Amino acid sequence: MTFVRACGLGELEEDTPKRVELDGTPLSIVQTEGEVFAIHDICSHANVSLSEGEVDDCHIECWLHGSRFDLRSGKPDALPATRPVPVYPVQIDGDDVLVSLTQES
Ligand code: FES
Repeated sequence: MTFVRACGLGELEEDTPKRVELDGTPLSIVQTEGEVFAIHDICSHANVSLSEGEVDDCHIECWLHGSRFDLRSGKPDALPATRPVPVYPVQIDGDDVLVSLTQES
């Protein structure tokens, strides 16, 4: 598994998603509840950026229709989205947030 720097830890604000692009893959990086998560930034229901939604209770909410995706599994907990969004392993190395795109978890 190869980890690549996605952003600096200091660039993240609690519960405020940060959109980054890593090797052409749009990601939403989220620091919440003492952990950092990386989730694919595009909703599985339509072409909408999840990083523009709100974070609550370890979920990110799609602002368009309100499906909430679990940041740990990528699974939606409410319609209209039915398919999960990919989530990726994260490592913290000093001030660097590293993400592995090679293996979705
Ligand atoms: S576009 Fe995200 S729930 Fe519809």
